[in-house]
Amino acid sequence: MVSLLENPLRVGLQQQGMAEPQIIVIFGASGDLTWRKLVPALFKLRRERRIPPETTIVGVARRDWSHDYFREQMEKGMKEAHPKVELGELWQDFSKGLFYCSGDIDNPESYQKLKNFLAELDPKRGTRGNRMFYLSVAPNFFPEAIKQLGGAGMLDDADKSRLVIEKPFGRDLASAQSLNQVVQKVCKENQVYRIDHYLGKETVQNLLVFRFANAIFEPLWNRQFVDHVQITVAETVGVEDRAGYYEKSGALRDMLQNHLMQLYCLTAMEAPNSMDADSIRTEKVKVLQATRLADVNNLSRSAIRGQYSAGWMKGEQVSGYRQEPGVDPNSTTPTYVAMKFIVDNWRWQGVPFYLRTGKRMPKKVSEISIHFREVPSRMFPSAALQANANILTLRIQPNEGISLRFDVKMPGGDFRTRSVDMDFTYGSFGIEATSDAYDRLFLDCMMGDQTLFTRSDEVEAAWRVVTPALSVWDLPADPATVPEYEAGTWEPAEAELLINQDGRRWRRL
Ligand code: BG6
Repeated sequence: MVSLLENPLRVGLQQQGMAEPQIIVIFGASGDLTWRKLVPALFKLRRERRIPPETTIVGVARRDWSHDYFREQMEKGMKEAHPKVELGELWQDFSKGLFYCSGDIDNPESYQKLKNFLAELDPKRGTRGNRMFYLSVAPNFFPEAIKQLGGAGMLDDADKSRLVIEKPFGRDLASAQSLNQVVQKVCKENQVYRIDHYLGKETVQNLLVFRFANAIFEPLWNRQFVDHVQITVAETVGVEDRAGYYEKSGALRDMLQNHLMQLYCLTAMEAPNSMDADSIRTEKVKVLQATRLADVNNLSRSAIRGQYSAGWMKGEQVSGYRQEPGVDPNSTTPTYVAMKFIVDNWRWQGVPFYLRTGKRMPKKVSEISIHFREVPSRMFPSAALQANANILTLRIQPNEGISLRFDVKMPGGDFRTRSVDMDFTYGSFGIEATSDAYDRLFLDCMMGDQTLFTRSDEVEAAWRVVTPALSVWDLPADPATVPEYEAGTWEPAEAELLINQDGRRWRRL
C-alpha cells in the first residue's frame, strides 16, 4: 500500500492546492443537504480549479432515479439555493460527472451493486480508485451504513478510501462510544472525517491565527486578566420542516454539543505544538477533559433549557415550537440552551465560560466575547454596569470580524468616559469570508487533512461534559417545567438568572 507521503502524484497535486481525482459517494443524496450545500460546494471548488475535472459524484438514495433525473434535480437545486452562481458550460461539464445509484441502506446487495458501479466508473472517469463515502443520512442509519460499507470491503484500502460522517455523532456518550466502535471495526481513524461545519468557517479558523500568530493577546488570555467568556450562537429561524429530526435532538444535541463546543475548545485550548491535525485535536481534547458543568447537582446554576412560544418576528406572527408541524404538542425538546462551564486547569480556574444558543431569537448572530477584569478601582464616573470592562469580541457571523472595547475620555472639562470599539471587519479585505464551509471541508478531506474534523476521543469528551444535563432532560417531564421565551425575544428568565446570579449579564447583541 502506498502511504500518503510516498505517493508523488498526490504530493504534486497537493503542492498546487489541488485534490486528486476521486469519486465522492453521497448517501442520502435525495435529501436537501445534497442540493443545498454539498453539490454547490463541489461546484465552487471546480470553478476555483481546486478539484480536477475527473471528480465524480455518485448520489445514493432509495428513490428510483436515473442519472439524468439526478442531474436535473441538482441543477434545479443549484438555481434555487445559489441563484447568483452562473452555471454555463462549466456546469454542463461538471454535471457529466454526476451519477445516481439507487439502494437500501440495510441491503447488502445494494452495496455490491454500488461497488460494481464504482469499479465500472473508475477507469472511465480516471478516478484512480480514490473514494470518499459521505454519510448524509439520518443519524440512526450511520451504524448500518458503516457496517455494510465495511462488509462490502469498500473501506479496506486505508490510503484510498475515506468516510465522512455528518453530525450529530451519537446522541449521548454511550451511543457515541458504540458508533466509534462500529467505525473502528471497519476502518482506521485516519480514514474518518467527523463533520462539524462550524470548523469550516473562515472566522472560526481565524481564532487559531488570532490567538497564536499574535504575541499581545496570549499573556492576557488567562484567569489573571479574563473575568469570563460568553459564546453565543443565536438563530432567527425556527424548527422549519425538520421536526422529525429536531424533536429527537433539540438545541443541546443539534448545536451546543458540537458547534458551540468547537468554538469553546478553540478559545480555551493551549497552544498546539504545531498546526498538524493531531497536535490541535490533542489540545482540544485536553481542555474538554478539564471541563465540567458548574454545578452538576443543581442544574439551575449550570444548565438551562428553554422553548420558544408564539411571538413576532420581523412584524410577522410566528407559532410556538409546540404548534409547529410535526412537533408533539407536549414536547419538552429544548430550542434554547445555556450552560456554564468551569475549566479545572491552571489557565482558567475560576473563569466561567457561558454558552448559549437558541432558535427564534431576535437576531442571527454568532460570536465569542472575552470579558476582561475591571480595573481595581473605579476612578471615573460611569453609570453603566461593567462600563469599564474591556471586551474583545470575535464575530463569527454576520459582519465577520473582531473588535476591542475600551474606554476613552469624552471631550470636555471633566473626566466623563465612554466605551468605544476598535474594529476590524473581514469585509475590508474585499473578499467574502462567509461560505457554507462545506467547500473547505470537502477539499481538506479530499487532500487527507483531518485538522478541521473531530477525532473519536474529542467527540466522546464533549458528550461527557453535557451528560449531567442530558440525563435529567431526557427523563419524561411535565412540559410546563420547560421554561418558555417568546419567539423574537432573547432567553427565558431562568437563563438570565444563570448569569445574573454571578453578578454578570448576557451581552445584548
Ligand atoms: C446545523 C443545525 O448544524 O447548523 C441547524 O442542524 C442550524 O439547526 C445550523 O440551523 C446553523 O448553521 P449556520 O452555519 O447557519 O450557523
